[in-house]
Amino acid sequence: MKIPFVDLKTQYKTLKPEIDKAISNVLENTAFIGGENVTNFEQNFAKQYGVKSCISVANGTDAIYISLKMLGVGSGDEVITVANSWISTSETITQAGAKPVFVDVDEFFTIDVTKIEQKITSKTKAIIPVHLYGQPAEIGKIKQICDKHNLFLIEDCAQAHFAEYKGKFVGTFGDVATFSFYPGKNLGAYGDAGCIITDNDNLAKKSRMFARHGALKKHHHQIEGINSRLDGLQAAILNVKLPYILEWNKKRLENALYYNKLLKDVGQIETPKIREDVKHIFHLYVIKTKKREELQAFLKENGVQTAIHYPVPLPFMEAYKYLNCSENDFPSVAENKDRILSLPMFPELKKSEMEYVVDLIKKFFDE
Ligand SMILES: Cc1ncc(COP(=O)(O)O)c(C=O)c1O
Repeated sequence: MKIPFVDLKTQYKTLKPEIDKAISNVLENTAFIGGENVTNFEQNFAKQYGVKSCISVANGTDAIYISLKMLGVGSGDEVITVANSWISTSETITQAGAKPVFVDVDEFFTIDVTKIEQKITSKTKAIIPVHLYGQPAEIGKIKQICDKHNLFLIEDCAQAHFAEYKGKFVGTFGDVATFSFYPGKNLGAYGDAGCIITDNDNLAKKSRMFARHGALKKHHHQIEGINSRLDGLQAAILNVKLPYILEWNKKRLENALYYNKLLKDVGQIETPKIREDVKHIFHLYVIKTKKREELQAFLKENGVQTAIHYPVPLPFMEAYKYLNCSENDFPSVAENKDRILSLPMFPELKKSEMEYVVDLIKKFFDE
């Protein structure tokens, strides 16, 4: 049996008539940049999130960069973020002119809130927690820390569309939240796409202006900006997909719980822990094992694709060598980096496929 890590084809086949029609409408109307699809998506996404504004942008990386810039983060500032994430979270801090300050992870793979305050200095301007793998970070406590120290809170929701913390969507706790609609995400476009959500009208207006060359009206450039737009085709595709997101998230969670059940008695595997009182949306299903390399190779030999998120934690990357971080500073990510393994996870994953994966894992450890 061959099991891909992510299966985007099956989802497309299910939605084919709707998607093809939406794409064809964009082509017929040559609505490639701006237009009804983009406006509708922004309105629909903001409405479903219960926030005042959604500003669509070209990708999730731009969403973070624009948010930092528009909050006034820049030269001489420090921004605290988590040691294990995709590099977008930290490279945008540098590109805004500030310095990233990393914090180790907790047992849920998200920023360890007990270690944040020791990293706060007079230069700290903001915190960017990441709801990694679809698991909400301890956002209630992070918000308290931000309020206490007067820091901006930017939630990186690239992997956590409609995940919940104590019954409230993540992305609605901070000053602003950023999303990626990269194809493999829980809500994915067919190319690059992203957005920013906020309840702050002024921030929304400034972000929109900055992302559209500094102009809200053509040729009226109030500031210099950048070009970061969601295109019409991606917006049309996202409009088709948005009504399905909660159902897909539910299926991912069911799949994760089924994996947990099947893997319960495999002593050499640690299954992902779910934080109390959250809705984890399992963008990724990440196990831990001391025999990661061998297990990954064995699964590959038997047709099962897996991945590692991420093999090198941010502080240990070449790009951050100048920060002189050592493994002792980040014991949890240092330990996790050689143990984490992401198993196939997507809404359409069948029980029989998960059973096949787990049977292989059991066979590997029995031998
Ligand atoms: C945690 C995190 N932040 C930010 C991004 C950036 O999103 P994009 O690839 O759309 O620029 C990603 C996407 O991979 C991500 O996983």
